[in-house]
Amino acid sequence: MLAALCLGGSAAAQHWYDNAVIYEIYPRSFQDTNGDGIGDLNGITERLDYLKQLGVDAIWITPFYPSPNKDFGYDVSNYVDVAKDYGTLADWDKLVAEAKKRNIRVLVDFVLNHTSDQHPWFLESRSSRTNPKRDWYVWRSGGGPTEPPTHWTSIFGGYAWTWDAKTQQWYYHIFLPQQPDVNWRNPELRKAMYDVVRFWLDRGASGFRLDATPYLFEDSKYPDDPHPPPASRAGLMPYNSGRPENHEVLREMRAILDGYEGNPVMLGESVTATIADLRKVYGENYDEIQLPMDFLFADLKTLDAAKFKKQVDAAQLDLGKGTPVFFLSSHDHPRQWSVFGDGVHNDEIAKLTAALTLAQRGTVLLYYGEEIGMGTMPRAELKKAPIGEKRPVADIRDGERTPMQWDAGGNAGFSTGAPWLPVETDYRKYNVASEKRRADSIYSWYAGLLKLRHDNAAFREGEYVPLDAGNANVFAFGRRTVAGEAALIVLNPSGEEQKVRITGWPGGWPGFSKLLEASPAAKAPGGSGFSVAPFGVVIAGVR
Ligand code: GLC
Ligand code: CA
Repeated sequence: MLAALCLGGSAAAQHWYDNAVIYEIYPRSFQDTNGDGIGDLNGITERLDYLKQLGVDAIWITPFYPSPNKDFGYDVSNYVDVAKDYGTLADWDKLVAEAKKRNIRVLVDFVLNHTSDQHPWFLESRSSRTNPKRDWYVWRSGGGPTEPPTHWTSIFGGYAWTWDAKTQQWYYHIFLPQQPDVNWRNPELRKAMYDVVRFWLDRGASGFRLDATPYLFEDSKYPDDPHPPPASRAGLMPYNSGRPENHEVLREMRAILDGYEGNPVMLGESVTATIADLRKVYGENYDEIQLPMDFLFADLKTLDAAKFKKQVDAAQLDLGKGTPVFFLSSHDHPRQWSVFGDGVHNDEIAKLTAALTLAQRGTVLLYYGEEIGMGTMPRAELKKAPIGEKRPVADIRDGERTPMQWDAGGNAGFSTGAPWLPVETDYRKYNVASEKRRADSIYSWYAGLLKLRHDNAAFREGEYVPLDAGNANVFAFGRRTVAGEAALIVLNPSGEEQKVRITGWPGGWPGFSKLLEASPAAKAPGGSGFSVAPFGVVIAGVR
């Protein structure tokens, strides 16, 4: 507490989540236990010891609800059950109990902006204009069957309105037509959604990853946009996102979470256009989303020291008392090994981008397989998997959703049956079993950084110290506790050796004589002038 008061804007960790590493699991691809080629909840339970050893504090499991799988579970047809593919509620109970024994928390992905068009709520809503659930979704008449109420577009392309011939109205969907947006202005819908929150908290969840949080409300005046921009990030329009009403819902939800023991958390899919908008997501009184994901940082796609510094400084210094949330890979983002890799030094670069996130003050999200250097599967490879019951649709994001690579055996140890998506061809090199045996593997590097975050006070509690590397090709920063523990982190994202002369340490250079981690092997810097290898990382402490 004292540290938080003294350091003001860069408060030290106060809750379990402020310094947590949260590991995102795409359940379909993590571990299959019944040979159907689809990962399941029991598979996650089987691998908890692995996650414990790696050092993660919590897992976020992407949707495992019953779903027609038009958007792989993000089209929910029942919020309070487990899809047959993934197991049963009893499997969930077992997973939570086993995770708890290992001090690993479990977060549920709560899809609160929309349901599946097959959810009983929507089936009722679309059955007639007078159905009691009609108002649970967003219905408008527009100008008849050929003229939607507005020319707003969906993030997945096309108009955000679909005509319902039976009831002669349009319904709104910011995503697929099979994902109708619910109407958060309706008190009964709201209550039903809050019951879902309580259901999972009562059943042992430690919180939620909140899907698509910017889009809960639309401008109730429905202003037209005759020239809407193309889809994707352009989805963030003043009429469809970031509405003031969002805050009320998130405060209400936070109040429910705060009524439970153990500080359950909300991790928000809080896409924003600016850092100032991201700051607002925490709530004026920090009583809304505790962990809004920083999509501005996740937009980094090139090895550029100046861009690294700009986004990290913004996240560390411009979010008030909010805990920043760093990530580079996810089920919606191509994998960082491929994005930043130059085709030759991908492994060294993967270690560098790992340090870029894991050395930060704040919460870090890892995406399954990131820690072993999994890459994005090329389209041509993906074509090998047939479309059918196991793989209902081909999604442009399939490349980052391939099966986890556990060992060099058949199907990389993921399944004894044919996996729903093919396993990467280089899995014999990049897999957990063989990387665990190698001290210089990507896995060992990640495990080392996670250990630092738990064992080293500067990494566990230290504020962020912006530094000047004296070289535009290098990004350097520090961590420092009120008690004086300090760490220095130096990243050289360039392909050449770089000389640095670091300045800006408050109160003078502490002398970093203890090497904590380095890639490739290096000596402790000692003085403030030294060289860093191509794609090199140096992490050092004072003693
Ligand atoms: C979020 C999910 C994404 C999904 C979308 C619609 O962006 O991360 O995977 O397609 O919401 O639910
Ligand atoms: Ca299975």
